[in-house]
Amino acid sequence: MASSGTILVTGAAGQIGAVGRIVTGLLLERELPVRAMVRREDDRAVALRAAGAEVVVGDLLEPADVFRVVSGCRRVYFGMSVSAGYLEATVIIAAVVRELGVDALVNMSQMTVSQMSIQHTTPSPQQRQHWLSEQALAWSGLPVVTIRPTVYLEGFFLPLTRPSVRDRGRIELPFGRGKTNPVATDDVARVVAAVLADPGPHLGQIYELTGPRSQDMNGVAREYSDALNRDVTYSDIPPEVWERELKKVGLPDHLTRHLVTMAELNRAGRYDRLTDGVKRVTGRPAKSIRDFVSLHADEFGGRRS
Ligand SMILES: NC(=O)c1ccc[n+]([C@@H]2O[C@H](COP(=O)([O-])OP(=O)(O)OC[C@H]3O[C@@H](n4cnc5c(N)ncnc54)[C@H](OP(=O)(O)O)[C@@H]3O)[C@@H](O)[C@H]2O)c1
Repeated sequence: MASSGTILVTGAAGQIGAVGRIVTGLLLERELPVRAMVRREDDRAVALRAAGAEVVVGDLLEPADVFRVVSGCRRVYFGMSVSAGYLEATVIIAAVVRELGVDALVNMSQMTVSQMSIQHTTPSPQQRQHWLSEQALAWSGLPVVTIRPTVYLEGFFLPLTRPSVRDRGRIELPFGRGKTNPVATDDVARVVAAVLADPGPHLGQIYELTGPRSQDMNGVAREYSDALNRDVTYSDIPPEVWERELKKVGLPDHLTRHLVTMAELNRAGRYDRLTDGVKRVTGRPAKSIRDFVSLHADEFGGRRS
């Protein structure tokens, strides 16, 4: 394995999807030196330190902080939670990395960017920022590797289907008859870790990542049923009802607009995707929905014996 110098992982504490946290663990397992950047000192920072990472605190929207955390690192994973400042943070890290020089910058993006162009953007402010961020990184001339996952099992399906599956045995989403093929965040993290461990062959590549099967929501519900050994059905709820529910729980407007756009694109069949990116980079197939639900069975209300 090629020696790396210190590898910086941003967004390492992990919130919804937690790719950064899993990447940190995988690199430490490979005995590579990791600097894990977190926004604040908390239990998650303590756990990262206990696992063997050098933990640094900083704000990705603060250029001086970013300069401090990147200094001394040769490889960088850049990812942070879906938020209004995403493009700004990308340009800050690009400016810093250009100044300091690195061997690889692995950039988290989204698969929707594959379908975007100047004439065809989407109403999601997050997707637009990813598209613009990729443009800016392409102009930068930096050694970039681009990761474009489809929707996450842990970051989307776990929080947004758990309550209704647990309480009513139903997946309630406004996805119409569109097909989807969500990917597990540990599969995404395995791809990122493999690239960071030996970036040379991956420089300039764009990896599109999906799960193993594209299917409509009735098919998704069948995988839940199989995993939980009880009936789970799909209920296609009106988009306005879903949007009202999202607003009720107080999500930031940026995230709500992103999720509402995702649902719209799902209904239009734009999440009907299938790639072999996970297998190609890691040598192992992507996790199925059934396996994901089995792992989280208790959270979904338990498996009937
Ligand atoms: N969710 C999906 O379905 C999906 C699908 C495809 C692509 N993606 C992409 O995946 C990325 C999100 O990855 P993820 O789910 O692994 O992230 P995450 O766990 O939600 O967030 C990673 C960390 O970013 C940190 N962070 C946020 N703002 C920061 C700032 N200004 N300075 C320093 N740290 C900051 C957060 O810190 P705190 O926890 O302390 O706030 C959080 O722990 C986004 O680029 C998203 O577009 C997501």
